[in-house]
Parts: sequence; structure tokens; C-alpha cells
Amino acid sequence: MVNDEVVKTPKQKVMETDVVTVNGEEVIYQKYHYFLLNKPKGVLSATEDRSQKTVISLLKPEDQYQGISPVGRLDKDTTGLLLLTNDGQLNHELLAPAKHVDKVYRAKIAGVANDETVKAFEKGLTLGDGTKLKPAVLKILKQDVASDSSEIEIRIQEGKYHQIKRMFAAQGMKVVELDRISMGNLTLPADLKRGEYIKLSLDEVESIK
Ligand code: URA
Repeated sequence: MVNDEVVKTPKQKVMETDVVTVNGEEVIYQKYHYFLLNKPKGVLSATEDRSQKTVISLLKPEDQYQGISPVGRLDKDTTGLLLLTNDGQLNHELLAPAKHVDKVYRAKIAGVANDETVKAFEKGLTLGDGTKLKPAVLKILKQDVASDSSEIEIRIQEGKYHQIKRMFAAQGMKVVELDRISMGNLTLPADLKRGEYIKLSLDEVESIK
């Protein structure tokens, strides 16, 4: 029904001010959709790929709206928080270098990160190819000399290609596992399993904006 009148023709046009109901339930037009996914390993942060599974395939068919794409990329073997939206403006703004949206990751490292590593990250690293990075905050969660391994949390502002892997490589270490736990003021809910996603509420969307 449109404004309490039964509509029998598919040609009926509606405007945003019209009230549309189906079986008594109001149908609300929503232009943009926002999903927060806990990305598992093994899927590509892309909208389509000829041979490999993409993050879009993790959405239910009814949530695969036209134009939905991931906000930035996580590597195929990286897990954790990935925002998906068809709001191109928000997607663009969250990635704009000038906006400095912080991203926090937890990682398992082959190598022993120490205070020197923390200081080097804090100063702003220079990568192997000469790229100069902004300061990053590194917290050491565990250090094990016997197994030559560490567990860390890192907060970065940029999102350069393979950035965290390259940062540790510049220090002679290797990232073994990488998981993003937050982006801006969005945090991965503790009960959201890998491969699962939630729709963001309008409040949450407003808070990112
Ligand atoms: N840094 C990386 O090296 N990989 C990611 O997926 C994200 C940040």
C-alpha cells in the first residue's frame, strides 16, 4: 500500500515522503548500508575476483547491495575488522591520509620486539624502499627470547600497502599473524566470530562520520 491505498500496478512511483507498507509493515528506504565484518583468513578484500573468494561473498545475498565494497584492504592472510559500505563518500574519507583515522592491530611476530623497536616506531620508520612513515605506537604484550617470538599491539594512522609487515621487516622481524581490532572509534565486538558481520546502527555510523 502507498499512503493507505492498495497499489496494483508495478509502474507506481513513490517519493520519500510516501508511506509504503507491505502486509501492514512499513518499508523504509535506506540508501546506504554499513556492515562490520570480522574478516577470516583466505578471502580477498575486493569486490570481485576471477578465481578467489572475496569478502562480499560472506554477506547474505540480500545484503549484497550494489556498490558495497570494503573500506580499504586487509591482506588475504590478515583477519579482523573490515567495514563494508556502499557509501562512497564515507569510504573515501576514512581512507584519506589527511583524516588520520587510527587503526589498531594485534600481531604475532617472529623476532623479539623490545624498547628499541618501540622507539624506532615512535620516531617514524623508514621502510626498505625509502618510504617515511608517521609515528606509530607499539605496545609489547609478550616477549619470548627462547622461541624468538613476540606478541604486540600497534596503532598506525596510515594504511600503506603491507604496512605493518613492512615495518617489522625493516626491523629484521616477520609478522606471523595479523588481526585488526579497531578503526577510528569502531571496535570489533568480542563475540563476533570470524566470517560473521553485523549491521551498524545509525548511531555507530554517525559516530564514525
Ligand atoms: N598491514 C599489513 O601488512 N597488512 C594488512 O593487512 C594490514 C596492515
